[in-house]
Amino acid sequence: QNPLPPLYCTEFSVQKIPYKDFFLAPLFSLYYNLILDTCIHISTERNRRKDKTMKRVGFLTSGGDCQALNATMRGVAKGLYQIYKDEVEIIGFEDGYKGLMYANYLMMKQSDFSGVLTKGGTMLGTSRQPFKLMRVPDKDGLDKVAAMKHTYHKLSLDCLVILGGNGTHKTANLLREEGLNVVTLPKTIDNDLWGTDMTFGFQSAVDIATDTIDRIHTTATSHSRVFIIEVMGHKVGHVTLHAGIAGGADVILLPEIPYDIDVVTGVIQKRAAADKKFTIIAVAEGAISKEDARLKKKEYKEKLAKRKYPSIAYELAEKIQQKTDKEVRITVPGHTQRGGSPCAYDRVFATRVGAAAAELILNQEYGYMIAMKNQKITKVPLQDVAGKLKMVDPQDGIIKEARTIGISFGDQ
Ligand code: F6P
Repeated sequence: QNPLPPLYCTEFSVQKIPYKDFFLAPLFSLYYNLILDTCIHISTERNRRKDKTMKRVGFLTSGGDCQALNATMRGVAKGLYQIYKDEVEIIGFEDGYKGLMYANYLMMKQSDFSGVLTKGGTMLGTSRQPFKLMRVPDKDGLDKVAAMKHTYHKLSLDCLVILGGNGTHKTANLLREEGLNVVTLPKTIDNDLWGTDMTFGFQSAVDIATDTIDRIHTTATSHSRVFIIEVMGHKVGHVTLHAGIAGGADVILLPEIPYDIDVVTGVIQKRAAADKKFTIIAVAEGAISKEDARLKKKEYKEKLAKRKYPSIAYELAEKIQQKTDKEVRITVPGHTQRGGSPCAYDRVFATRVGAAAAELILNQEYGYMIAMKNQKITKVPLQDVAGKLKMVDPQDGIIKEARTIGISFGDQ
């Protein structure tokens, strides 16, 4: 465990003033008294001021990483340093909630937040700590929630700044219910957090997935093949939808719009008949067929567990090959979609939400997630966010517009 430097350190100690000198050297009594008074005054003033204004804030990043985690922490930190000058201390917890549970932390310096705007990953590290296991003791019998509360109180934190996605928000809300001061920031490439139009990481991931589709386009024009690009998103299809449209995909398959394999192969054949040499399919990791969508959740999970293919793209490829005799190629950009520098949009967004979090801390408004609604930065109560997914709405304008220009969602 890291040693914790004293927060309210006093520069002068009253006991160190040699009292006996008052009796031995009455001539100097006035002088000593003056010094003593000044010391006491400075010391008390200093403590009083610090007791009132000094802030100690914990930072943690949890769940899958994404671009702009560092940029967001930088935004919060710079905001706090502007507001509190040197009267704020930031403690970084390592590897998400794990750091809070096991008291693995480091004292951050202002310089830690310099030069990180463009850096991918997270300087604090992260881990997935499933919400459903939060009330289950760890292998050594440790009560995780109690341990997190203990660390928070032991460090005399004023609040916790938590950067995370859906699972992270459920735990953040749990900590709020347990009486901790929490401010959260919307992180995930999936953009599936309820209560915000945007999450940081999303635009960067869309750019990368789009770039992948663009590169496939050039090779696709040289070959008469079907290309499948599998985009991240097990539960929701926002990244696939946006990258699919931006990359000019012919077919976009999403978890929210179950597909019919015959409709998909129909599109391929129609394109071939119209002398279009290739077909590009953008498929989300969690895309599901109409047939599977009819199964109960448990049945589908069991089916997935037995699936002989590594992922949906491989299953689709085999079926398309069987039904069309077309050569099929698969590209899975995978975690590259979460890697590297944040795009310009995410840097701006991270800075805005970071600054807004610092403002909330200044105003002691806890229990909120910073969000964006209708282009405005706002705050949403954590209890409203926790446990809800923001999915692609099949009736949304973007889907209708995509259909209008002939993009197929494999459903009709
Ligand atoms: O939640 C973000 C995300 O990248 C999803 O899009 C993806 O399905 C999942 O995480 C991958 O998780 P992991 O990094 O644990 O393999």
